[in-house]
Amino acid sequence: MLLPQLVHILAIAAALLGAGHAQISCVGPQGPPGKNGSPGPQGPRGKPGERGVPGPPGTPASQDPQLESDLRELQCRITRMERALTLYGKIAIAGDKLFASTGKTSVFEETEATCQAAHGSIASPRNLNENKAIQRIVGHYNTYAYLGIIESNDPGKFHFRNGDSLNFTNWYKNEPSGSEKCVEMYRDGTWNDKTCDTYRLTVCEF
Ligand SMILES: *[C@@H]1O[C@H](CO)[C@@H](O)[C@H](O)[C@H]1NC(C)=O
Repeated sequence: MLLPQLVHILAIAAALLGAGHAQISCVGPQGPPGKNGSPGPQGPRGKPGERGVPGPPGTPASQDPQLESDLRELQCRITRMERALTLYGKIAIAGDKLFASTGKTSVFEETEATCQAAHGSIASPRNLNENKAIQRIVGHYNTYAYLGIIESNDPGKFHFRNGDSLNFTNWYKNEPSGSEKCVEMYRDGTWNDKTCDTYRLTVCEF
């Protein structure tokens, strides 16, 4: 009566022991982790991300106080520099025109070439203010200057070098008088027609 049960229990115990035995047998303590392997090859390049949303519009330059004040300061600095340079008598300002002299004399053609090479043109007074500016340079060097005015094909009629008709003139009394093709400025600022091969002060405008 007892025996079959005992056999059964023993069988179960043996099975449990056997299983347990199998699980724990021969396993030593875990060793330290191995070293990391070398890195694998680089993967393929990913797809570009989506375009971000556009940023908000910037402040218009006209409403940018910093830019406005920078601009004012720049204008002031340029004006002061122009005034300082004017002291030397080589340059004179009239409105937005700047007249400058090399201080040297040359014939008309060479004067034009000198001014063109400097990206300017020969001084051409278009109003009294500009005429006075050129006059100051003429006075400084005490030398008459050629102007950018020449006689047209119609004798006795003059026009600006670029073809514009004269909307301002400052001829000396009874001038123009001869058949001379070029025009010079006297020290008092008045104009006289003159041959083009005389040596006159080079004054350019920019
Ligand atoms: C003649 O016209 C020019 C523009 O071409 C102007 O700058 C100048 O002041 C004018 N002169 C006079 C005396 O009105």
